[in-house]
Amino acid sequence: MKQGKFITLEGIDGAGKSTQLAWIVELLQRVGLQAVLTREPGGTAFGEKLRDLLLDGSFIIYPETEALLMFAARREHLGRVILPALAQGQWVISDRFTDASFAYQGGGRGLGSGELSILEQWVQGTLQPDLTLYFDVPVGVGRQRVSQGGNMDRFEQEQADFFQRVRDTYLGRAKQFPERIKLIDSSQSLAEVKAAVERTLQCVLIHG
Ligand code: TYD
Repeated sequence: MKQGKFITLEGIDGAGKSTQLAWIVELLQRVGLQAVLTREPGGTAFGEKLRDLLLDGSFIIYPETEALLMFAARREHLGRVILPALAQGQWVISDRFTDASFAYQGGGRGLGSGELSILEQWVQGTLQPDLTLYFDVPVGVGRQRVSQGGNMDRFEQEQADFFQRVRDTYLGRAKQFPERIKLIDSSQSLAEVKAAVERTLQCVLIHG
C-alpha cells in the first residue's frame, strides 16, 4: 500500500496555525483524502498528560527537562499514531513536530542544536515530515493575537525576546531545508493565507 504523507504545521504562538488546520482538512477532503489530525506535544493519552505538565505555568523546569519530555511525548506519538497511520496509507497532519523543539527549546531556551539532533535521531531516526508549513508572523502580531485569547500557558507567558529567538530559528530552518519547509506569510489577510496554503498543498498533491 502507498505510504501516506506526513504534514506538519509550525509557527510562533499566535501565528494562526489552528485556523489553517481546518482549511487544510477541507482541501484534502475535496480530493477525497481523509487525514488524521493530531498535535504535539500530545497526540496520545500519555502525551496529552505530558502536554498538561509542559504547558502548566506554575512549574519552573530546566530546558533539558522540557526538551526530554517533548521528545518523550513524540516517541509515543510516532510509535502509536503517526507511523501506523502512514503505513496504512493515511495522511497525517500534526500541529507542530520536531522543528518546534529546535525553535523553542533550541532558539528560545538556548539548548544546543547538537543535543537536540541527537534526541531527534534517537527518537525518529531518519523520518522527517514530507511537508512543513511554517506560518510566519512578526513577534508583535503573534503576541497581540495570543494576549486576546485569555489564559496564557507557560510558553505564551514568555517575553517578546524569547519569541524573537523562536522566530529567528524557524526562519533559519526554513532556509536550511527549503525543500521541506515552506514559509507562509501569515501577516497577510486570511484569504491570502488560505490561498497560499492551497497553492503549497497542490504542489505536494500533484508532485506526489
Ligand atoms: P500550541 O501548539 O501553540 O497550542 P495552542 O494553540 O493550544 O496554544 O502549544 C504548544 C506549545 O508547546 C507551544 O507554545 C510551543 C511548545 N512546544 C515546544 O516548546 N516544543 C515542542 O517540541 C513542541 C512540539 C511544542
